[in-house]
Amino acid sequence: MATVHSNGWLIHDYREGDLAAVVHLIDTTAELGQESVYSLAECISALTSRQPAVVAVHQGVPIGAALAHVAGERAWVMRIAINSGWRGRGLASALLVELERRLIAAHVSKIAYVLPEEDLLGEGLLNAGYTRQPAVAYFEKTEPLHGPAAGVLDELGGRLLPGGLWAGVAGMEREKDLIERRVVLPLAEPERAAQHGVRPPRSIALFGPPGTGKTTFARAIASRLGWPFVELLPSRLADEGNLAAALRTAFARIAELERVLVFIDEVEEIAPVRTEPARPGGVHGVTNELLKLIPGFREGDERLLVCATNSIRSLDPAFLRPGRFDYLIPIGTPDEAARSAIWSRYTAGRPDVDVAALVAASEMFSPADIEHAARIAAQVSFERDLEWAGPRSGAPDRPGATTEDYLAAVAGGRPTVTPEALEEFEADISAHARA
Ligand SMILES: Nc1ncnc2c1ncn2[C@@H]1O[C@H](COP(=O)(O)OP(=O)(O)OP(=O)(O)O)[C@@H](O)[C@H]1O
Ligand SMILES: [Mg+2]
Repeated sequence: MATVHSNGWLIHDYREGDLAAVVHLIDTTAELGQESVYSLAECISALTSRQPAVVAVHQGVPIGAALAHVAGERAWVMRIAINSGWRGRGLASALLVELERRLIAAHVSKIAYVLPEEDLLGEGLLNAGYTRQPAVAYFEKTEPLHGPAAGVLDELGGRLLPGGLWAGVAGMEREKDLIERRVVLPLAEPERAAQHGVRPPRSIALFGPPGTGKTTFARAIASRLGWPFVELLPSRLADEGNLAAALRTAFARIAELERVLVFIDEVEEIAPVRTEPARPGGVHGVTNELLKLIPGFREGDERLLVCATNSIRSLDPAFLRPGRFDYLIPIGTPDEAARSAIWSRYTAGRPDVDVAALVAASEMFSPADIEHAARIAAQVSFERDLEWAGPRSGAPDRPGATTEDYLAAVAGGRPTVTPEALEEFEADISAHARA
């Protein structure tokens, strides 16, 4: 999978055709303080034996590469090579993040990075006839997932998410700040929290209109804590026949994990208001089961249940009672500042785009709506570029969507959240929010 970064580069898995370019990068950057304890020959051998490697390209030209080799549960980062023109722009860490993703997927639990260390030897030693040998600085990172837990996690369809998702949530400062203070920090600093009598939350619900980022927040919290992320999908659990029993089994497996964030999306589907009369085998049984499972889940440390819903008013009141959920947090549509941050994310690399105009034109747009409009504009610009490259000679100086493209996409789109839905949301906040 290729990941496009807002700085304009694109990082993809190493492919055979990249060999010459990567060798060139390794070769030409060795003098720039990027040398490695691994020789070029060792790097080539790792690349040709299909060890994990990623390549960054900008406008089709490789500008950086990172490679590793895996030995059992440990991986060794062999080299991160960056074209000199691209240093100091965050490319090295972007490459490392992408490389780590591949390593984690390969069930690596320790990542080591051996670097030559500069300036360890003084003039004195040199004068005394010593020759300088590269010393090493040994860096190691333990991935929190290894041993038998990895099997349980696989079975639950869970995984460790890449770091950096929290920082990747653009705008939404109000929500971010609240979740950070109430949820993330007490879980990340349990001892300090305990000194103040703060009990870390064990379960929270996020509610708000569609596309405002509830799922994004749940994933970002897991990434921020470095905990594995397990999403329980009622539709998938129900495949096994009895949803209540499947939930019970899933929670029993979850209890075996040392730490975990469990996410249930569209929770109103499994815990709706229990209307009379109950139908046998209906959702009542499921709601009751979940109500019974939450207290047990809450007893463990280092676990967090995050439920998300578009419709908090259709949830069973017993489900929302304090003691089951510590916080009920509204996630609303982005205000101006948030929209500005989100638009800036999608238009990064194009300083000529008038973000203020986009912000003004996209009132009531959810992050998902903005993302969609940005995608449409990018597509229009892409197609125009292809047309130019055809009959006419030479493309426009700077390909990419313009302010007009974005504005046209906004005008052609419709906010998912209607004024009525927003009104309902405001009413829900006064009736239910607990933060
Ligand atoms: N703060 C943000 N900045 C940039 N993009 C965002 C942000 N929040 C959400 N998005 C993008 O908007 C899309 C929808 O977000 P997400 O799925 O988290 O919303 P949701 O509230 O869970 O929606 P639903 O109610 O439909 O499940 C995603 O593609 C996500 O990447
Ligand atoms: Mg969602």
